[in-house]
Amino acid sequence: MVTIKNPAQIEKMRAAGALLCQVLDQVSAKVRPGVSTLELDEYAHELIVRAGAVPSFLGYEGYPASLCTSVDDQVVHGIPSRDQILREGSIVSLDCGVILDGWQSDSARTVRVGEIPPETDRLVRVTEECFFLGARMAVAGNTLGDIGAAIQAHAEANGLSVIRDLTGHGIGREMHEDPAVYNFGLAGHGLRLQPGMTLAIEPMIALGDWHGYEDDDGWCFRTRDGKPCSHYEHTLVVREGQPPEILSYPGYEWKER
Ligand code: MF3
Ligand code: CO
Repeated sequence: MVTIKNPAQIEKMRAAGALLCQVLDQVSAKVRPGVSTLELDEYAHELIVRAGAVPSFLGYEGYPASLCTSVDDQVVHGIPSRDQILREGSIVSLDCGVILDGWQSDSARTVRVGEIPPETDRLVRVTEECFFLGARMAVAGNTLGDIGAAIQAHAEANGLSVIRDLTGHGIGREMHEDPAVYNFGLAGHGLRLQPGMTLAIEPMIALGDWHGYEDDDGWCFRTRDGKPCSHYEHTLVVREGQPPEILSYPGYEWKER
């Protein structure tokens, strides 16, 4: 069931989103060669708890951490580890969720570890562009297919591929609500968007082909060809006649185009 949030509920999700943005800013600032992904998770956990919020990932279907750290060919749901040390030239997706006063926010960004190869740099940049092009379509009266089609078109125009196995989602009191938000599709198809729908849009874009597999740990999803993948996600609210408010990116202003 797709739910519509009222202004008071959106205000709570705005507060959760603002906190999550601060957490990701601070964790991102710790990324450098030599840092373990477990250190990033411990820092994220401390920041969330210290703010009086709950780390939504910790214990979710048994997930053992507060942060997902997905390095290079790890697409999403990488489990932080003491033994996984970040190296110059890598990229790491930092995916985190918080619950503040009963309301959720979910966001991810891919961070460069030192200097990275130009083709990987372009992958990270185009993935962010895919998010903003897709999110810009999340306007009342448009459809879910408009979001997916915009993401897919930009990725494929740049010779990149859209991971098909995982999607974005509705979000609110629960981290994962209806609808599933595909990162590919046909413009004009699918659910029609209404004001007050809150969505997590999260393109996962690969440098190679889109096939992947689940690691032995039962969580981490990796590209089959071993090439890097980038991930970028925000929680937003659909509005009438204007692009969405990005709740996990306070102060973001849409540019005219
Ligand atoms: N951020 C992920 C998503 O968008 C959720 C992480 S799964 C968890 O679906 F188990 F780590 F919580
Ligand atoms: Co998500």
